[in-house]
Amino acid sequence: MRYAAITDRLQGLGSDKWAVHIEGKRRQAAGRDMIMLSIGEPDFHPPASLVGMIDERIRAGRTRYSNGRGEPEVLKAIAAHYTTRSGHHVSPDQVTFLPGTQTALFAAMMTIAEAGCDILMPDPYYATYEGVIAASGARFVPIRTLPEDGFHLTPKELLAHVTPNARVLLLNTPNNPTGAVLSAAEIAAIGEVCRAHDLWILCDEVYADLTFGVPFASPFDNPQLRARTIVVSSLSKSHAMPGFRCGWAIGSQEFSDRLLPLAETMLFGSQPFLEDVTAHALTHHFPEIDAMREAYRDRARAFVSGLSNAPGIVARMPEGGMFIMVDVRRTGLSGEAFATRLLDEENVVTMPGESFGEGGAGHLRVALTVDEAALAEAATRIVNLARRLH
Ligand SMILES: Cc1ncc(COP(=O)(O)O)c(C=O)c1O
Repeated sequence: MRYAAITDRLQGLGSDKWAVHIEGKRRQAAGRDMIMLSIGEPDFHPPASLVGMIDERIRAGRTRYSNGRGEPEVLKAIAAHYTTRSGHHVSPDQVTFLPGTQTALFAAMMTIAEAGCDILMPDPYYATYEGVIAASGARFVPIRTLPEDGFHLTPKELLAHVTPNARVLLLNTPNNPTGAVLSAAEIAAIGEVCRAHDLWILCDEVYADLTFGVPFASPFDNPQLRARTIVVSSLSKSHAMPGFRCGWAIGSQEFSDRLLPLAETMLFGSQPFLEDVTAHALTHHFPEIDAMREAYRDRARAFVSGLSNAPGIVARMPEGGMFIMVDVRRTGLSGEAFATRLLDEENVVTMPGESFGEGGAGHLRVALTVDEAALAEAATRIVNLARRLH
């Protein structure tokens, strides 16, 4: 039988990146005591009142078909959230409710990109981006960002990578894996290049609520850029609810109208009880969420301080998100080689930076999804390995 070319384009973009993680999981399942720092899954529970709402909403009959865009209440709540954040009116017609940031990213990319166009994105980048771009048929153009610059994209580098077919800049702030948070001034300068070359800005803001002492900024909140910006986000990280698949895409009304038939074709509507939970989540304050943000920040601090005396290792405090990049270049090992030795010799499971593009080479990505004590223990074991290598 014959298969569609999309399946070829997506071959090999998955499992190789996860080899250390998969092996770590296998050893854990076999009974070995592993410290798992490889996956960005929140270890916190969602706010209790949101979990309680699910049962109540299902019993209230909110189990029928919704519609492709999402029902008015959830669209109103999402629009109001972004109106408050940006200080500019966002209409519910600009919003599409979708099952998670990943689906929103995929649907948005399919709406604006296709074979023959180039997608620019900072490297290192989140592991699924290459696949999303490949699925659309477009070509991806990585723009190397440097640890010495805190992995921040500069307008100069962006400009140097603009091609005649460039159509989209794919941004992620706060960034997974680097923890970089772009400032409003940086976004304005990057946005100038996008304006000059008529690029869309597709901005993955799934970690928007997780910044550590630096303000979050979005191109959507910049009046000069919002018409060319599409935001994708969800409750997955902000409310520790990845399994609920509550997400959305926001752009111009024209973008949303173009996206709608695609959303209908893919999904035939969302889940009304989850729309209700999302509307409630975005219109109420949950103290658990503040506590969670503080916990991620404290974990990051504890881990960075645990590595301060590790020979050949540099770990900087991330500006936001759920991860730390650990620079192991001066040990002489690649990220992959270091992660493999850490797995074999210290039972600590991390992601090699190379899994996130060439820009991640010589690094480990550590997820802050275990408690402070486990992170401190992991740091001690990394120091042990670094000393043996020194
Ligand atoms: C940068 C980034 N985008 C998107 C996602 C997926 O988010 P969601 O669960 O909302 O689909 C993740 C999950 O780890 C992520 O790190």
